[in-house]
Amino acid sequence: MFGASAALAQSGSMEPMTPVELTAAVTERLQLTPDPRLREVMTSLIRHLHGFVTEVRLTRDEWLAAIGFLTATGQMSTDQRQEFILLSDTLGVSMLVDLLAESTSSGAAGFATESTVLGPFYVPNSPQREYGASIVEQPSGEFTAYTGLVTDTDGNPIAGATLDVWQNADDMHYAVQDPDSPPGNLRGVFRTRADGSFAFLGVRPTDYPIPDDGPVGGLLARTGRHPWRPAHIHVIVSAPGYQSVATHIFDAESKYLTSDAVFAVKSSLVRTFERHEPGSGPAPDGVPAGRPWYSLTHDFRLSQAAG
Ligand code: BEZ
Ligand code: FE
Repeated sequence: MFGASAALAQSGSMEPMTPVELTAAVTERLQLTPDPRLREVMTSLIRHLHGFVTEVRLTRDEWLAAIGFLTATGQMSTDQRQEFILLSDTLGVSMLVDLLAESTSSGAAGFATESTVLGPFYVPNSPQREYGASIVEQPSGEFTAYTGLVTDTDGNPIAGATLDVWQNADDMHYAVQDPDSPPGNLRGVFRTRADGSFAFLGVRPTDYPIPDDGPVGGLLARTGRHPWRPAHIHVIVSAPGYQSVATHIFDAESKYLTSDAVFAVKSSLVRTFERHEPGSGPAPDGVPAGRPWYSLTHDFRLSQAAG
């Protein structure tokens, strides 16, 4: 019966249609899509979209407001600011895609390090830095010595693995967000030594709000949500023959771990920063005398590349 009604609709009949018949007419026309995956995705999208509009009985004014919101989201997006990704992040869609793609399970022995959102502030081609070097080009916050190993999922060290790291400064901005910051500040690319070890000097991360001065921020406010992310440092770990992972290390003391604005916290990625008082032992190179500092040890496990 749907088929017959849909055929009438397709042939330009003036018959009034029910919502169910309209959905059928649209999905039936999509069956002409040559690419089978596009056909599957579009058919499902129409079913869910029509189902949603029908379920909430979307009014004309609400439909117009939604169009205005999406238009503003596009208009806010530039090379430096991707408001649509922010929308995807805050609606949990980015993490849903990540969860579905993730073939590993929680950081337990034998499994690879879990991934999480890349975020909009990754900039390729960070400065290449030596083992143990500092990424702090402009003083900011508390110095932190980051150390650890990169291994395969059996715990064998991977020599020459790449760690591409970036973190926000004490003023909550990444270098790319701040025209007054040196472009390489708090960013760097490191390689593991023969024993799989890496080391660098950074800072202890701070909580920060995602950009909330655009349509997505407006939506967060109207739905009673805060824009804060729990303190974290970003790392992309890669090595030839292994699957790369874009991940975070989260600070166990952040108060936003359970309410991350982008739903990106995984418990296997949460670590405790250890505080060291001045004079309590040798401080890493680059930590000014008399200053307390922190240390953080975290190992990354990579799974073999498919094929
Ligand atoms: C970030 O961690 O850099 C980030 C992730 C998602 C949205 C905004 C920022
Ligand atoms: Fe971040």
